[in-house]
Amino acid sequence: MSDFIEIFEVGPRDGLQSESKIIDTKSKITLVDLLSDCGLQKIEVSSFVSPKWVPQLADANIVFKKIIRKKNVKYTALTPNLRGLNDAVLVCADEVAIFAAASETFSKKNINCSIQESITRFHPLMRKAKHLGISVRGYISCITDCPYEGEISPSRVLNVAKQFKEMGCYQISLGDTIGNSTPTSLNKLYRILFSELPETFFAGHFHDTKDRALDNVELSLENGIKTFDSSIAGLGGCPYAPGSSGNVSTEKIFKFIEAKGYQTKLSLDKIKKASDYAKSLVKQ
Ligand code: HMG
Ligand code: MG
Repeated sequence: MSDFIEIFEVGPRDGLQSESKIIDTKSKITLVDLLSDCGLQKIEVSSFVSPKWVPQLADANIVFKKIIRKKNVKYTALTPNLRGLNDAVLVCADEVAIFAAASETFSKKNINCSIQESITRFHPLMRKAKHLGISVRGYISCITDCPYEGEISPSRVLNVAKQFKEMGCYQISLGDTIGNSTPTSLNKLYRILFSELPETFFAGHFHDTKDRALDNVELSLENGIKTFDSSIAGLGGCPYAPGSSGNVSTEKIFKFIEAKGYQTKLSLDKIKKASDYAKSLVKQ
């Protein structure tokens, strides 16, 4: 259906990863179960990363084992290396995501290696995922702006995107990590990206730090992007991006997209229920 827009829920991962208060495992499971009722097709449940780097998600394997899976929902995980993929496979994650950046400094701060080293590290992961028939999504952070380097040139994003495509990623999520993108900076990026790769290969991942996420979603819709990441109750940020705040909230993007005449298959009542629960987990 051409007017269908996919909402990719990343709250349990991107939303919770930088919460300073450790949320108990049972609550994370309840959150994912509530999200499973919302009509979402993809939920990023957690990350299989070093627990020293992201202590909040050290319980990823238990969360995956205990959630009640719905047939039409894919439960996904972030994996930085082969070890992460192996751990995700053990708990039957439906798909995984690799993540790189268009900024060298951010790459170093986030995954402790250069952009090119990260791509090299992803090769064995991609080979194994292909062998197992597991789909891999690619994230690119700092698509227009980096908290350390400032403005990022579109050619740097294109460079990573082409390599991700070549490696076999089925989709690339474009991360406005610190919420600094504007319709103008995105237009500049899309002109370059979409001259070499199809727009339907990309998803929008907008952090709402400066309350500009919906402007960026609108511009992206006009440019043919059909998948958007969001976080229930707008939870989140990235622990290695100072000043980043939550992704655009699932309830906000749902209302915006439906008001524009697109369909999402989500239930507002169920989203509200999950959102109230998510808020109760992070309130001081
Ligand atoms: P490192 O220290 O360079 O690598 O970390 P290492 O290989 O030396 O490993 C260090 C320790 O981690 C070792 O343990 C490994 O065994 C362990 P130790 O010997 O010290 O006890 N380790 C692991 N443990 C569990 N699972 C694994 C794993 N791999 C190694 N998979 C590493 C490199 C990539 C592991 C580390 O930097 C890391 O985990 N980084 C993750 C950072 C992260 O999750 N950031 C947030 C997600 S990205 C994001 O939010 C942006 C996004 O939303 C898009 C956007 O908004 O832009 C996606
Ligand atoms: Mg993010």
